[in-house]
Amino acid sequence: AADISDDLTDVLATEEEILAKLDEVAAAVAADYEGKDLVLVGVLKGAIMVMADFSRALPTLVPMDWMAVSSYGAGTKSSGVVQIRKDLDTDLSGKHVLIVEDIIDSGLTLSWLLENFSSRGAASVEVFALFRKPDAAKVEVHCRYVGFDIPNDFVVGYGLDYDERYRNLRDVAVLAPHVYS
Ligand code: PRP
Ligand code: MN
Ligand code: MG
Repeated sequence: AADISDDLTDVLATEEEILAKLDEVAAAVAADYEGKDLVLVGVLKGAIMVMADFSRALPTLVPMDWMAVSSYGAGTKSSGVVQIRKDLDTDLSGKHVLIVEDIIDSGLTLSWLLENFSSRGAASVEVFALFRKPDAAKVEVHCRYVGFDIPNDFVVGYGLDYDERYRNLRDVAVLAPHVYS
């Protein structure tokens, strides 16, 4: 098989740096939500890795639910058309919801999700995004917890894919343009 390191340029965050950041955010979340009925909502599929590690960095038990939405398909650009592929199993009414995302790129997915959640009667809805690309924002999304702000390059790894590949890389790295051009 070809060496995948040929597909990657800069490493933006190593697994070790990501896990250290998750500990930091988990401490903040644990303090902010003490005594509150918190539920984590992960956005499939990209958020699987961050949900797995972030939830285990929290000091208390926490319920998790999942939404599957997709705006990217097989391309590298957001289509802006968000589709629900799997809805939540949980009733959010009265719950303090923390949406867990791998990345905010254009912001279209999250702004759509926040709008969708606003009608479900949650006590609060906040966002934790492990990565955010400030220069790619098409809509502003209020994000209470951000792991890393990164440049506007196509990045893969730690859940982030290009055409369903690279999700199981441990680090997050920039995808070399020759892979998709
Ligand atoms: C990616 C990523 C975020 C979203 C961010 O998901 O995981 O959910 O795009 O982009 P945006 O801010 O421009 O909306 P994708 O639609 O690729 O689905 P996936 O999580 O299954 O890879
Ligand atoms: Mn996603
Ligand atoms: Mg994707």
